[in-house]
Amino acid sequence: MNSKFFLRPATMSDADCLLEWRNDIVTRQASLSPERVEVASHLKWLKSTIHNEHRKLCIAELNHRAVGTIRADKDKDKDGWILSWTVAPKSRGKGIAQKMLNAFIQGFDGVLLAQIKATNIASQKVAERAGFTLIEKSEGDDLYHYHRVCRA
Ligand SMILES: CC(C)(COP(=O)(O)OP(=O)(O)OC[C@H]1O[C@@H](n2cnc3c(N)ncnc32)[C@H](O)[C@@H]1OP(=O)(O)O)[C@@H](O)C(=O)NCCC(=O)NCCS
Repeated sequence: MNSKFFLRPATMSDADCLLEWRNDIVTRQASLSPERVEVASHLKWLKSTIHNEHRKLCIAELNHRAVGTIRADKDKDKDGWILSWTVAPKSRGKGIAQKMLNAFIQGFDGVLLAQIKATNIASQKVAERAGFTLIEKSEGDDLYHYHRVCRA
């Protein structure tokens, strides 16, 4: 059977799984804001995100099951969009992050940036394979900064 993979915009119906993935310990360790998120603030954030033209939040579906999320935040200073991604804990180790990144880039017009922790080798691999270039390693916070220009 052919597997069917696509990205779609997130809705309020995705609130539960997004919160579960956000509070997963591995996600928190990889995140620049590692604290747990409470339900009320998550719902408020999701509601405002859905209506925010400076943020794009997508859900990846594989065979009609939500398997991950990818988000782009408009960066005011750098004239680009900062990307971040999370694969559902049960769907890790199957190349989903690569699929999400490739699908997001397809048809995107502009500059994409990603900030990945030095310890997050899997995400560094995924970014490099999606055509991102490592432009800077910031010493203090052990962050790798990636960059990619996309033309639709
Ligand atoms: C990191 C994460 C996105 C990876 O997603 P994934 O689709 O499950 O990635 P995979 O496990 O398929 O790994 C991608 C590649 O990295 C490799 N890899 C995975 N873990 C690795 C490690 N610790 N060291 C070296 N390579 C590793 C895999 O072997 C694979 O390469 P391959 O195709 O050559 O085999 C996922 O684990 C996740 O959501 N983590 C929590 C959130 C997070 O880190 N987000 C990114 C913030 S920038």
